[in-house]
Amino acid sequence: MIQIDSVEKKQHRKLIVTWSITFLLLFPILIILGLLMRLNQGEWMKLNPDTFYALMTLHGLGMAGVLFSLALAALHYLIGTRYARLSVKTGYFVYFLVLIGVVGLLIATLIGKFGAGWYLLYPLPFKGGSWTSWSTGLSIVSLIILGVAWLIGSAHVVYALAKEYGGFTKLIGWQYLGKEEPKEELPAIVLITTISLVPGIMSFLAGAVFLIMNLLQFFEPNLAFDPLLLKNLVFFFGHTLVNITMYCGVGWVYTLLPEFTGREWKVNKVLVYSWNATFFFILFAYFHHLYMDFVQPLPFQYAGQIASYLSTVPATAITMFGVIVQFYHSRVKWSIIPITFLLGTAGWAIGGFAAVVDSTISINKVLHNTLWVPAHFHTYMLMGVVLFIFGFLYYLVYTNQKQRIDENAKLGFWLFVFGAYGFLLMFYLGGMHSVPRRFSDYGGIAITSTHEMGAFLARSAAVCVGLLLLGLLMMYGSLLAKLLKKHEPE
Ligand code: HEM
Repeated sequence: MIQIDSVEKKQHRKLIVTWSITFLLLFPILIILGLLMRLNQGEWMKLNPDTFYALMTLHGLGMAGVLFSLALAALHYLIGTRYARLSVKTGYFVYFLVLIGVVGLLIATLIGKFGAGWYLLYPLPFKGGSWTSWSTGLSIVSLIILGVAWLIGSAHVVYALAKEYGGFTKLIGWQYLGKEEPKEELPAIVLITTISLVPGIMSFLAGAVFLIMNLLQFFEPNLAFDPLLLKNLVFFFGHTLVNITMYCGVGWVYTLLPEFTGREWKVNKVLVYSWNATFFFILFAYFHHLYMDFVQPLPFQYAGQIASYLSTVPATAITMFGVIVQFYHSRVKWSIIPITFLLGTAGWAIGGFAAVVDSTISINKVLHNTLWVPAHFHTYMLMGVVLFIFGFLYYLVYTNQKQRIDENAKLGFWLFVFGAYGFLLMFYLGGMHSVPRRFSDYGGIAITSTHEMGAFLARSAAVCVGLLLLGLLMMYGSLLAKLLKKHEPE
């Protein structure tokens, strides 16, 4: 732990409060975009396809971007107030770059109707889309700005940690692998932050190459790149971004949960081995997105399946075991914070399991491009990452030891969880009934029973999203008021 004076702490707090309020404003708007898509698929409203795909693109990019940005900001706050000296100015610089990127994407999708989906599958953005050409350019530039912001934010945190703890190998815990006990303890959040952000930095660089190639194509239409190369680059970027957002959240669970259970959660050899293995597997798991690309070299396909299986085992199994040990017979008071951490871990496990099922080549042949895919990633993002984020936000406004219980927030929280699982269940059932993903209008499905089932499930999902939004509103009541208070909770 480093000593930080109260003035600097206050500056860090101001920054994270700014981030948190921005997140709380954007999150429900992005959910409403999702609700509109479900209402359209359920045939309760009529969006034209251009609008549907523009909303889908904004929703996908927006959710993934906003969740990662908040996760990075949370780590910046926790690390900057406890473990390493971080610059608040750099934090604000990242914040404003992200805002510029978000505004660019809002304009490109809502006004320019850019609708190529989050991964801009090359050469789709340039080939006969219904959107305006300028919106393609603006989307690419906005994504470059976001990537630069994340690169600066991540590199700043990793560099400051390496300076504080004596180099990169210390950050990934190699000092624990010798016979002697290390002289200085490594906090788990430092280990996990490094394991998350370093592959993140690699993926941002891959994303930069992808986006610059797209930008060149935008200015020079005669260029032609290899679509397979671009697909590999964008999936390495996108898959890794979402994957590490989860791990960032897990990082603060290792640090904050012990404050509630009263048990230590220290780094040891097992933890170092498992998180180091995860570091390696994160880099190769994305291959499972390319099973349908028959021109992809075969060994990569097998590598995808093996890495997907192996990447879930060490970090996930060790963390689940750790969470159970934290709670088992502990004297934890069940306030909203430990509940979010427990249920967030459960959401990670459930969504992760469904993802591993889908990463199995023989099963992927059936489930690929059905609603099973959004089902699993929505599970660990919405019931994993988002719950970890709410745990963190409540931690900011409530004192950890006082264990305040806010009945309104708790009721809102349970409504949110029930609504979310209802919404997710409809995606899973859709997948099991072969309802295709990314279909704006299920009326276009030739098989009547699949069309009817898809529309029925979409309507049911929309009702559940209504419940979820009501719960969110109740949680916001206490959260926003407390975040806006000038002082830290006592
Ligand atoms: C209650 C909240 C949410 C609702 C109602 C919702 C709804 C939807 C819907 C209806 C789709 C289109 C599915 C399809 O037919 O293919 C979708 C896609 C997507 N959603 Fe969500 N979602 C929510 C939360 C989230 C969260 C938390 C994330 C975080 C990453 C997320 C990321 C995405 C992405 C990446 C796509 C795919 C976009 C694409 O294919 O380009 N969503 N969502």
